[in-house]
Amino acid sequence: MTHVLAIDQGTTNTKAVLVAADGSITSTGAAGVSVQHPAPGHVEQDAEELWASAVRAVGRCLDQAPDVAVTALVLSTQRESVLAWDRREGRPLGPVVGWQDERTAAWCRDTVSEAEEELVRSRTGLRVDPMFSAPKIAWLLSQPAASDPSRVCVGTVDSWLLWRLTGGDRHVTEAGNASRTLLYDIAELGWSAELLDVFGVPLGVLPQVLRSDGDFGTTRDVPGLPDGVPVLAVLADSHAALLGQGCTVPGRLKATYGTGSSVMTPAPGLATDDSGVPSTLAWLTEAPTYAREGNILASGAALAWTGRLLGLDVPALLELAASVPDSGGVTLLPSFTGLGAPHWRRGVRAAITQLDAGSGRAQVARAAVDAVAQQVCDVVEVVDADVPVGTVRADGGATASQLLMQSQADLLGCQVQVADVPEVSAYGAAVLGWRRLGVELPVRPSRRTFVPQITDEARRERRGRWQQEVRRLTSAAGS
Ligand code: G3P
Repeated sequence: MTHVLAIDQGTTNTKAVLVAADGSITSTGAAGVSVQHPAPGHVEQDAEELWASAVRAVGRCLDQAPDVAVTALVLSTQRESVLAWDRREGRPLGPVVGWQDERTAAWCRDTVSEAEEELVRSRTGLRVDPMFSAPKIAWLLSQPAASDPSRVCVGTVDSWLLWRLTGGDRHVTEAGNASRTLLYDIAELGWSAELLDVFGVPLGVLPQVLRSDGDFGTTRDVPGLPDGVPVLAVLADSHAALLGQGCTVPGRLKATYGTGSSVMTPAPGLATDDSGVPSTLAWLTEAPTYAREGNILASGAALAWTGRLLGLDVPALLELAASVPDSGGVTLLPSFTGLGAPHWRRGVRAAITQLDAGSGRAQVARAAVDAVAQQVCDVVEVVDADVPVGTVRADGGATASQLLMQSQADLLGCQVQVADVPEVSAYGAAVLGWRRLGVELPVRPSRRTFVPQITDEARRERRGRWQQEVRRLTSAAGS
């Protein structure tokens, strides 16, 4: 039977998923990847390890379906993380600088002028922030290993995997991934010479940008796969989740709960305003599809940190949080690396506030869960002011928590539907791949639906308390 094999390369693991023509998932495989923190604010990964994890995940997936013939490959990848490799030898010229890496924070703050900041926003929809690739590329190119630009290939994770999948044949990237670099003009749909100039990046080191359903080449020398399998579609992981959740028209919104959260909704057009929830290119097929996205920097990371503080793993933390009816007023602002969307204040540091003598471990645990949900509400409210959001479709690891999902529905005051598969990004990429084969995959039904169980007054009170703490802590941190 014909199958599309989707590889979803994320920050902490790589999944491989075999998707049949009726949308059913025949088998899955996964392999972990490590993240290094060699210095405060530095977040790195090993490019060879990322590739090896993809090979392992594919092997594990195919081992469970020995009779399946893989017709085509599709990719979904973590975004913004970027690396350089040697054009002749294919050898990485340093680490993958991760999307969470903040080593370029001072550079972004001190080197980029206001006029350049405005130029970046008008061309990319995004603000200059160390999360995006361009400042990291400037750093990579300043390293001695990359001193000869004629030998350097730069690329985000999709580009690196495509290089390896095609045996070094293609140095290409996908438009949605390119849109997260700060170098790609999302209206003109190409690398911007002006932006390359701002960040000092020579065009020659960058990959060719292809549409999301472009011709990405065919496999060569990939362990476990025959040569000649075409790569039919590539999407950035968050964008793939949007498609996988069936959010293809404005008003439909998805929230992906990972290390951070991505709250995303298709936009009626391109807007480069400063609402804190910027425009991005979701995917490029025969025409561009734009979306608005708010990135929240710490979600799963907030749960993991609070767990460590309390000497618990995340499941035990969630159990403790569920043992009390509320946080007793305790607020946890998980701005360990600053606040992301819609506030965008890198200087704010994390805090646990409003403790009283009755506050204990359980209230702090509960405040961490609330913080994950409250931050999503902060973004949804901005988006909702433009196009009313009916239902929120949730995916990602933390959706397994009944408590979090109920809390989310309560604080949003609308339905939250949880995706029925954990591999929603892989599924989204498969939707696009199958489309190229002339097959429209069904939208996956939701697994669980949560409806608000608190009164509007209680919701307003809880939202008001959170917003007040955010205001207080951001103004205490200064501009
Ligand atoms: O923007 C970063 C995002 O793409 C990372 O995704 O799945 O690795 O948390 P994930």
